[in-house]
Amino acid sequence: MVLHRPPAPAPTPGSRTGGSWRSWRAAWTEAAYGPDGFWSTQRPGGHFSTGVGVGPLVAEAVAGVVPKGGRVVVDVGAGDGHLLSHLVHRLPDVALVGVDRRARPPGLDPRVAWVEDHHDVDTGRWVVGPDGWTEGAAPLLVAHEWLDDLPVAVVERSADDWREVEVDDDGHERVGPAPAADDRAWLARWWPEGRRAEVGRARDVAWAALVRSAVRRGGRALAVDYGHEAGSRPADGTFLAYGAGRQRAAVPDGRVNLTAGVAVDALGAAGEATGAATLLLRPQAKVLTAVPDAPADALGALVRRSERAALTALDRWGDLWWLLQGSPT
Ligand SMILES: C[S@@+](CC[C@H](N)C(=O)[O-])C[C@H]1O[C@@H](n2cnc3c(N)ncnc32)[C@H](O)[C@@H]1O
Repeated sequence: MVLHRPPAPAPTPGSRTGGSWRSWRAAWTEAAYGPDGFWSTQRPGGHFSTGVGVGPLVAEAVAGVVPKGGRVVVDVGAGDGHLLSHLVHRLPDVALVGVDRRARPPGLDPRVAWVEDHHDVDTGRWVVGPDGWTEGAAPLLVAHEWLDDLPVAVVERSADDWREVEVDDDGHERVGPAPAADDRAWLARWWPEGRRAEVGRARDVAWAALVRSAVRRGGRALAVDYGHEAGSRPADGTFLAYGAGRQRAAVPDGRVNLTAGVAVDALGAAGEATGAATLLLRPQAKVLTAVPDAPADALGALVRRSERAALTALDRWGDLWWLLQGSPT
């Protein structure tokens, strides 16, 4: 996924409406998790590829940040299970657990355990939760391209202040009320400038829960995601839609994957507030450059070169952020 807003169709201010107006946050949540929602009916591989599906390079880097003595890796929002499938061969002595609201992917290696669980963005809680996924000491909890899918409020500047953006069933937009007090405080701290923005508060909450659980057991949490920092937030925000391999118009109909980049500095602050240390905050291009090549024949070396090129190219996966927090040992 790339984070550039689609050039067309432009949002239509409320002239023609196909249904009831709701905040984007409410509409996005229903479009993602309702009975006909995208994540209730679709699988990631049917619509886009992520870096862990390209080859084993990301998994090799992930294996390198497992805490010393760590005996369990949990992939949160594990999707089609690509990361865990690569880790099976690299970490044969480590328990591997996939967590996702969807069912276990068919054909996933039997050495990988799977927990169906759902994180509710409205309450900030899981049904089961990190402490119920595994009891292993010093776990590594990984959220690879998960946080950007968690629905958040979309806001637009109107006169001098932020207002929520509302949407109808067809994707037409209009300016709504002022954001809730917590969202206004988040915007004032993390995204004060710009024409449009997304309020990352729900991602901060979700991330802090993972970090807290990891640190309590001497472990770490790793987020790998599209994002931005203060000073380089896109003026028009990063909210967009994907479907069937292409960028689409953002319509809350459950047929497209709605996504927005993660404010990685806000995420880092939320993790540190749990007592964790920040061990790494760096673009993927730099993280993967440090991973050595395994010995390979000519064909293997060629495959590896093209995998590394795709995963480090800035217009593909190279500008994903890696945020590692937790126990320093
Ligand atoms: C973009 S896919 C990423 C899959 C995988 N991590 C990868 O990088 O290929 C996001 C995954 O998160 C899951 N997901 C989204 N929201 C969730 C939630 N609130 N609770 C649990 N799983 C969720 C979806 O079912 C989907 O499998």
